[in-house]
Amino acid sequence: MNAHAPQAVVVLAAGAGTRMKSAIPKVLHPICGRSLLMHAVTAAAGLDPQRLVVVVRHQRDLVVEHLGEHAPYALIADQDDVPGTGRAVQCGLEQVDADGGTVVVTYGDVPLLDAEALGALVTEHEESGNAVTVLTARVPDPTGYGRIVRDEEGREVLGIVEHKDATSEQRTIDEVNSGIYAFDLAVLRSALERIGTDNAQGEMYLTDVLAIARGDGGAVRAVVTDDPILVEGANDRVQLAQLGAEMRRRINERHMRAGVTIVDPAATYIDADVTIGQDTVIQPGVQLQGATDIAAEAEIGPDSTLRDTVVGRGASVVRTQALLAEIGDEATVGPFTYLRPGTVLGAGGKIGGFCETKNADIGPGAKVPHLSYVGDAEIGEGTNIGAATIFANYDGVTKHRSRVGKHVRVGSDSVLVAPVEIGDGASTGAGTVVRKDVPPGALAVSAASQRNMEGWTERRRGGTKAAEAAKAAQARSAAGETQEPQSRDRSEEQENR
Ligand code: UD1
Ligand code: MG
Repeated sequence: MNAHAPQAVVVLAAGAGTRMKSAIPKVLHPICGRSLLMHAVTAAAGLDPQRLVVVVRHQRDLVVEHLGEHAPYALIADQDDVPGTGRAVQCGLEQVDADGGTVVVTYGDVPLLDAEALGALVTEHEESGNAVTVLTARVPDPTGYGRIVRDEEGREVLGIVEHKDATSEQRTIDEVNSGIYAFDLAVLRSALERIGTDNAQGEMYLTDVLAIARGDGGAVRAVVTDDPILVEGANDRVQLAQLGAEMRRRINERHMRAGVTIVDPAATYIDADVTIGQDTVIQPGVQLQGATDIAAEAEIGPDSTLRDTVVGRGASVVRTQALLAEIGDEATVGPFTYLRPGTVLGAGGKIGGFCETKNADIGPGAKVPHLSYVGDAEIGEGTNIGAATIFANYDGVTKHRSRVGKHVRVGSDSVLVAPVEIGDGASTGAGTVVRKDVPPGALAVSAASQRNMEGWTERRRGGTKAAEAAKAAQARSAAGETQEPQSRDRSEEQENR
């Protein structure tokens, strides 16, 4: 347990969020790869509290399902018909079966607040022996916020007045309530018993707890944040985008300070949970999403989107779309490459231009350099898949898996009709349709040998430009100018053109 681990954190998320104009609950809208609520819950969990309670009401089933998936440790409290932040906290405390200690209250729609800022609030609260400590901010436009009313010396907080209930003199106060507090649990319980709904909004105001606690003789104080955006909530989509941009800027800065080169931070989108190793270079136009994990000394981009993808040390990934893929150390991917779930590329391997892969285990040093589809396949170490090879994994009913051994040479334009197996060290000729297993070391060819029907163009396409060109070539050849091309029968393709 952390030195200042609170008894509970109560995250308020029962509000309707009408200004979002959305079918989904406000707190489930994401920025930087996490819902607003999960940003708040992650910060709260960072305090290592005995209990983490989320108060729900509006679209509660969707919110509860989301928490079940992403924060199963959270306790759920349902708010009843009585409106207001005071009632929300009272309902939240029903999940807290303790009498003493510190309770932190935060909002589910305040995404930038982190565990560090919350921890500082808790430390100040406990070290000063306060009954209530409120996190406040001085803002240029305090309209709409609760105002912090201080005593003459300015050290103690007398209370909070909501904007709608404030006198014009009180409205000139520029110190506002963030809605984030640390409370002594016993003080909070007792004060909540005594708050009413006799105010401009007819709600139980949590803010009324402060004056009550002071009336009971407790110390009520404020901690002013020097970074007001930390306590800003997202009420509509404009604010959602603004807070998203600020979070992105901070995430990029964190990576750069840790030794990652980001060529153009304004054109780089990195989700909150992404990890990146030192000396990796992120080119412009890159989105790193979800639980993507990039090792050191890699180069990503330009123009790539990687979601839940692992990239090894020194790998290069250019103009690529990847989902749930794993790219080995020193491997190269792209450009114009689509890696679908279950793609695993071994160390030093290559998936080149205009290739698509899915459920494909491609061994170390193996190469799929050009224009291929590899689905449901295993490709052994050092194997080369010729240009335009297709793993035909789907027979229209079921998907089947194919296996290609080590150091195999698959000729260009081969089709592997799954399920099929090509043994170690085997080869296929260009244009082979592989329907039967190929034993190790064998060469498989399926195309009929080439026949040249001399004079066909003249007979069947006489008078065309092709026929004229052919005639001219034949005349030059007869005059000994050039050698007519020899008919050849080449089954083996170049490996890696
Ligand atoms: C509240 C504060 C105000 C502060 C402001 C900061 C009160 C009375 N006022 O005002 O002093 O400056 O936040 O943003 O507390 N919620 C519930 N249940 C409810 C009502 C709200 O869970 O019945 C949740 C909302 O989902 C939201 C948070 O509490 O996350 C704040 O609610 P909101 O209605 O935005 O409060 P404000 O009136 O803005
Ligand atoms: Mg609000």
